[in-house]
Amino acid sequence: MTKILSEQAEYPDQQELTAAKRRGAYEAWHQVLAQRPADVIGEVADSGLRGRGGAGFPTGRKWRFLQFDAERPPYLLCNADESEPGTFKDHWLLERDPHRVIEGILIAAYAIQAREAFLYIRGEYASLLPGIGRALEEARAEGLIGPNVLSSDYSLDIIVVVGAGAYICGEETGLMESLEGKRAYPRVRPPFPAVRGFNGRPTVVNNVETLANLPWIIHHGAEAFRAVGTSDSPGTKLVSLSGCISRPGVYEIPMGYPLQQLLEQEGGGPLPDRSFKAVIPGGTSVPVLTAEEIEGVTIDFESMRQAGTLLGSGGMIVFDDSVSMPPMLRAISHFYATESCGECTPCREGTGWMAAIVDRLLDGRSQIDDLDRLLRIGNNIEGRTICGLGDAAVQPVRSFVSKFRQEFEALLHESSISNAPDWQTHGHGPRTARHGSVADEIVRSEPVAGRPTYRW
Ligand SMILES: Cc1cc2nc3c(=O)[nH]c(=O)nc-3n(C[C@H](O)[C@H](O)[C@H](O)COP(=O)(O)O)c2cc1C
Repeated sequence: MTKILSEQAEYPDQQELTAAKRRGAYEAWHQVLAQRPADVIGEVADSGLRGRGGAGFPTGRKWRFLQFDAERPPYLLCNADESEPGTFKDHWLLERDPHRVIEGILIAAYAIQAREAFLYIRGEYASLLPGIGRALEEARAEGLIGPNVLSSDYSLDIIVVVGAGAYICGEETGLMESLEGKRAYPRVRPPFPAVRGFNGRPTVVNNVETLANLPWIIHHGAEAFRAVGTSDSPGTKLVSLSGCISRPGVYEIPMGYPLQQLLEQEGGGPLPDRSFKAVIPGGTSVPVLTAEEIEGVTIDFESMRQAGTLLGSGGMIVFDDSVSMPPMLRAISHFYATESCGECTPCREGTGWMAAIVDRLLDGRSQIDDLDRLLRIGNNIEGRTICGLGDAAVQPVRSFVSKFRQEFEALLHESSISNAPDWQTHGHGPRTARHGSVADEIVRSEPVAGRPTYRW
């Protein structure tokens, strides 16, 4: 199997510049400096590389959207926020092969003629900072970064910024706000970052793994990249495998690799005496697949979509037959309720309501129509928010409740009729409006830890 990202990362001394260079690091960077930026963009566009941050947008096309203005050079932002639950492949790359990521940043920055690039790194990844800092220092000392790179007339600074500690900081416009020192509220688009992004300038945001592909593409050529993977999803994918699996970890597989095979071979199969029950294939923001649905699904953007889910970040979370799904959904729903930035009402309120309803299902306080209510709230969030966090929060709720409905219904039967609170008499405050909407059925109470809080 062709390894594009992970072959050198397996060497224990790959973080050191001399060792990395011995294995080919920065050769592509030398090549690129002799090319016209438009040709570099052309090569990357021809390779068919698609973004690995979640949405799979073609990288070359994204760069071509940039509006060039010599007076106001664009920025490149490398998104290392990696807050998607179950995702740890960018951490793996940055820890083991920082020079590959740095070289990717250099190539992309040169292609778009940025003068400054930022590596925005998740705050919790503080342990990576010394390694990244050392790699940048070494690269600078060799003239690979900085003024007049390798005696050319191109200059670039790479600045590392520690993230502000919220999931929303990984959303590209939230990231830009955060970099500008503000709260990471996503921006309404248009204008798109390619036109007006960080500091009002044209900006490209790319994921760590996306950028890490560039040295290989430049070195081996677009055609060689296209020869790996599928026609619509060329190249490989780094997947992070966690949960109920024998060998959790980060694996690089070619796009189009069977999901079942990944779980059985790389992942080593289920834990002893267990069988697979379900897998979330792309971080908790994508619909879960049942064990039966996994069969025939391959790891690429198209196959996942056909199976009714998404490749997302490639953060795969495995559940086996020992796992009860409602408590899993409780953890996931609370994540989104906590991480909703609060800018858009449907997401701010709806994620809290969904979490609270899952809570009451599990706490024996459910109401008979709670499952339909959950789905209805989801429908009223989806597509009604500025960024994708709202949609992301809905996918696990909808897929868990519809695919494992029996487990949720069992909770209803245990509790709903006898334990349902009496809205009028339980002293949770007056209901002010009663127009039959979901919102009207929710009663706010004193906030806990400053978060919207609801009690039934
Ligand atoms: C709520 C939310 C969180 C996100 N978090 C990340 C993240 O941590 N890392 C990332 O690369 N992309 C994240 N994204 C996607 C980015 O907005 C953006 O699409 C991506 O960085 C673009 O890079 P790519 O084209 O190389 O994939 C997130 C999106 C949303 C809606």
